[in-house]
Amino acid sequence: MHIFTDYYQNEVTLSFDDQPFSKEPKHVWVICRYQNQWLLTEHKERGVEFPGGKVEAGESAEEAAIREVMEETGGVVEKITYIAQYYVAGKNDHVIKNVYFAKVNELKVQDGYFETNGPVLLNSIPENVRKNKKYSFIMKDDVLTKSLDYILKRYE
Ligand code: GTP
Repeated sequence: MHIFTDYYQNEVTLSFDDQPFSKEPKHVWVICRYQNQWLLTEHKERGVEFPGGKVEAGESAEEAAIREVMEETGGVVEKITYIAQYYVAGKNDHVIKNVYFAKVNELKVQDGYFETNGPVLLNSIPENVRKNKKYSFIMKDDVLTKSLDYILKRYE
């Protein structure tokens, strides 16, 4: 377990075990790879972030992850792997989110990308991501750094 505070000073607990906080999490976040680049999306309010969102009724968390990647980037997921789960203790509520690593093999141009401006491809995540206003707050805590370390050790 890794415990730290996020951009908004909420306490976050991250674990690489199998869904320790909930077997039915309501949120997902997907670290995506496409042609040797990171595939992100530009959220209209939050800025650049890996795609993700809420699990809908009747859907598994993994199904939600695949759907969110398509909606927010046009990416077709070829392979998806669960890597971690985190618990955010917010001021009034909490969020439990699964983190996935997905290999995308095709980018389909979409008419719209829901609440985002669509795909963003990066060769690397900038060193100053935590200070950079273009990036979303969800990229600004140890969930990103620890998840990337985990992925680079095992899958890249
Ligand atoms: P809405 O109904 O859309 O508002 O969603 P929700 O209430 O289920 O969750 P919301 O996205 O509003 O998030 C609730 C709290 O969790 C807020 O304090 C957010 O800042 C925080 N939060 C949500 N997602 C993340 C995340 O990926 N990382 C961090 N650090 N905090 C998050």
